[in-house]
Amino acid sequence: MIYFHYHSLFAGIFAYLNFLTPKTRNEILKILLKGLKMLEYRGYDSAGIAIDGGNDVAKGEGSQNEMLLLKQKGKVSALEEIIYDVNKPNLEVLFENHVGIAHTRWATHGEPNWVNTHPQRSDPKGEFVVIHNGIITNYKDIKAFLTKRGFLFESETDTETIVKLIKHLYDESKSNSKPPTFRELVEHTIVQLEGAFALAFKSVHFPSEIVVARRGSPLVIGVKSHTKLATDRFPISFSKGKVGLGVQGQLYQTTLEDDETSTLGPVGAGKEIEYFFASDASAIVEHTNQVMYLEDNDVAAVGRNGQLTIHRIRNSSDDPHMPLSRELTTVKLEIQQLMKGNFRTYMQKEIFEQSESVLNTMRGRVNFDTDQVLLGGIKDHLSEIKRCRRLLFIACGTSYHSAIATRQLLEELTELPVMVDLASDFLDRNTPVFRDDVCFFISQSGETADTLLALRYCKQRGALIVGITNTVGSSICRESHCGVHVNAGPEIGVASTKAYTSQFISLVLFGLMICDDKLSMRERRHVIIAALKKLPDQIKEVLSMNDELIKLAEELYLQKSLLIMGRGFNYATCLEGALKIKELTYMHSEGILAGELKHGPLALIDEAMPLLMIVLRDPVYKKCMNALQQVKARNGNPIVICNKGDEETKKNAYKSIEIPETVDCIQGILSIIPLQLLSLHIAELREYDVDMPRNLAKSVTTE
Ligand code: UD1
Ligand code: MG
Repeated sequence: MIYFHYHSLFAGIFAYLNFLTPKTRNEILKILLKGLKMLEYRGYDSAGIAIDGGNDVAKGEGSQNEMLLLKQKGKVSALEEIIYDVNKPNLEVLFENHVGIAHTRWATHGEPNWVNTHPQRSDPKGEFVVIHNGIITNYKDIKAFLTKRGFLFESETDTETIVKLIKHLYDESKSNSKPPTFRELVEHTIVQLEGAFALAFKSVHFPSEIVVARRGSPLVIGVKSHTKLATDRFPISFSKGKVGLGVQGQLYQTTLEDDETSTLGPVGAGKEIEYFFASDASAIVEHTNQVMYLEDNDVAAVGRNGQLTIHRIRNSSDDPHMPLSRELTTVKLEIQQLMKGNFRTYMQKEIFEQSESVLNTMRGRVNFDTDQVLLGGIKDHLSEIKRCRRLLFIACGTSYHSAIATRQLLEELTELPVMVDLASDFLDRNTPVFRDDVCFFISQSGETADTLLALRYCKQRGALIVGITNTVGSSICRESHCGVHVNAGPEIGVASTKAYTSQFISLVLFGLMICDDKLSMRERRHVIIAALKKLPDQIKEVLSMNDELIKLAEELYLQKSLLIMGRGFNYATCLEGALKIKELTYMHSEGILAGELKHGPLALIDEAMPLLMIVLRDPVYKKCMNALQQVKARNGNPIVICNKGDEETKKNAYKSIEIPETVDCIQGILSIIPLQLLSLHIAELREYDVDMPRNLAKSVTTE
């Protein structure tokens, strides 16, 4: 079954289970809402929560036979308002055991209204509810099957078919001599699903139990326990799966039997414990740093006794080397790292963090005294990489630009052919890939769907797979043979800034590491490493030009277009700068290779066309000056990014932004920052949400 051709996973899952840990409804709601807020950066247009209903304050208990669904279009703060000002559930009700599930949804099937928002319910009473990231590709077949059996659908979502299907299976089997458990019902349900999902189920029939499952969409479990867990490994139990052929209009016949029931040591049943379930760890770290990453086809369940168990249906396509347990690991994300601090927006914070994040990328990896560079994540594969036929760099958007930015240097230092491709185009072309190729996959989130698909494509063809990611435990990180964490820290703003400069530096470090035994490169390496050492201070210097860029933004923000030209090492700066302008300001912007001017773009130039040129002291300086003069000759008024004190260039410029000088191959780090700041300020002058540009989401886990 091919299940990774999915479209859209813009969405966030968060669920919370407290066992023998009394919480008021208000405390539970606060935890769920906070979890959703931490996932806001993923991009969404509605949000919802399901908790236990009932208001029997006298008994001090809620009713676990009632489901309370709270949903609202728009931001999480709108949901919060609706709950506290309109729905007004009794907040004092106390729950000793409870499951709450919460979701932010990005509309893919149907508009963001109440019925389409998650949680989706099986029936108006909400016997079963589910939250879902991903897409079910065979939902129409299931819907037809269920409709024939009298189910009435209220939403346009694919997800509603899942929750109605589980109710159907429940109704069919509840009079069995041995009715299925919640977990078994979920297993029978997901066997019927094609597509991609992360799911969390809640039901009035299984109060304070939760079942989650993933296939193609990430899911993390956090465990918070007051007593020490006996082990940090959760063994997996397997079910023997027998799935018959589907007949048109019928379900697949399934018989699933537990084939090994392992009683699990880790969590002593009956002890107080709390569990958190989320699409990524950032929503969990504030509660616990003990997390576990589920793998595709895992089903995790917490039963009535508070015990977490992991199950898989034995599958012939399973990797025979898959570990037989899931490990609890400690995440080191600092909660402060995730907060905005003194900045107005994440975007602004992340731009200003770059002097530090770039340093973090180099930390422990560069020895500035001995000129040694060591990337721990790929050192064991170095000789294999050196022997390869060619290097392929595959990515999307900003990550792609980081490869363009370093391509020339990598060609120079590795003396290997270097290919740089956009993941979607690479796949469209069915590009030939060979066993002796080394393929790099660059992604901030490590979940970018196109990049991940390209990774699997190359892996299947036997190439060595190297990840360049910013997210530990992400899919790309796990599916790659080796790689480098860029260590830029969490990037929340949708438009990537600090991840770009850290990806850039990581690739430079890779180039430096691979040629450390080449005598002919010694001087060049020394110059670059010395320049890297000075870089954080030079970044601060560029950031201190902020006021200048605010003024420039005031001049430009009513324009319709901005052209950005350059060449050589700074062509990538043009592309990335134009992308920042587009995504943040919604202005038209285009990065133009200055060498292409007379082949077309020159026709755009007149005295009114806003344009920016990058002219730095590097091997293409003369050629850029030439382009500058051509533009002047057409009455153009170029704003120029040049090196400090370059009077010659300034003479020809309408305005100039002067940046400090460094070695040619890393100038791109210093030249992109003014463009990041310019985009930020133009967007703010236009009163746009810079952290969440319209129509975009942070993790583009979509093809
Ligand atoms: C590692 C530790 C770091 C520690 C350092 C000390 C982690 C995540 N990193 O950093 O905390 O300070 O050792 O020596 O524990 N990988 C992939 N694909 C990717 C990215 C990484 O497979 O896309 C793999 C690497 O091959 C490596 C592991 O993940 O096995 C960690 O990579 P990285 O964090 O870059 O390694 P170090 O810099 O050595
Ligand atoms: Mg790996």
